[in-house]
Amino acid sequence: MIQVKNLTKVFHDKKRGKITAVNNIDFHCQRGQIFGLLGPNGAGKTTTLRILATMMAPTSGEVLVNGYNVVKAAHKVRQNIGFLSGETGLYDRFTPRETVRFFGKINGMSENEIDERMNQIFQILGMEHFQDVRVDKLSTGMKQKLSIARAIIHNPPVLIFDEPTVGLDVITARVVIDYIREFRHQGKCIIFSTHQMHEAEKLCDEIAIIHLGKLLSVGTLENLKKDIPVGDLEEIFFKLIETESRI
Ligand SMILES: Nc1ncnc2c1ncn2[C@@H]1O[C@H](COP(=O)(O)OP(=O)(O)OP(=O)(O)O)[C@@H](O)[C@H]1O
Ligand SMILES: [Mg+2]
Repeated sequence: MIQVKNLTKVFHDKKRGKITAVNNIDFHCQRGQIFGLLGPNGAGKTTTLRILATMMAPTSGEVLVNGYNVVKAAHKVRQNIGFLSGETGLYDRFTPRETVRFFGKINGMSENEIDERMNQIFQILGMEHFQDVRVDKLSTGMKQKLSIARAIIHNPPVLIFDEPTVGLDVITARVVIDYIREFRHQGKCIIFSTHQMHEAEKLCDEIAIIHLGKLLSVGTLENLKKDIPVGDLEEIFFKLIETESRI
């Protein structure tokens, strides 16, 4: 459902010069699979996900989402994805219901369809008690739940989540993680980024470890453990980064 081939993104920064944020990476994710991008700060996770979500063009390489090219068929790609990122805009003056209704309409849904799905999502995410409170009065976790609801209202087959549990307490994070598992059960393709090892370990069918734009390893946790037999994911992660730094 997601195919990434030789993807590279180069930024030209006035102060820092040329930055290769994503350096020739390849991976693919299937339907009914949770794919994790694991990497430290500045690894290139957000850049990769933004390219997948058509928010930014690649410098070179090819990305297909549900068969559509992110550059040539960006509009089609957008219909097929739900994109969650820290920068996802929420309007301060809207309530959660108004926010989600607005995005449902943009995605061509009818009022009835929106109401039915919104009620379901709000119930699962425990949002009912603040559904009519203005966004500027919501807590970080409440806003994050709303961003998720907003991203999935149109029931897209592909979910692209940049650090979905950032800023969430353990209880709220668990609700979000359980919901991501439910998406897998529904046959969606989910790609998400994190720098939390335990989250990747618990949730992902496949994990891609990236560092300084390079994909250091990709596979199931089981395969990563077999290839690099140093212990848990955290140990594998440090081993890969240490080896890469020496090259
Ligand atoms: N618009 C931009 N212009 C210039 N450089 C950028 C831009 N966006 C990202 N970068 C650089 O690209 C690199 C990768 O950034 P990116 O945001 O993809 O990392 P990340 O893996 O998401 O990190 P984090 O865990 O901190 O969110 C960094 O060096 C960053 O400074
Ligand atoms: Mg990021």
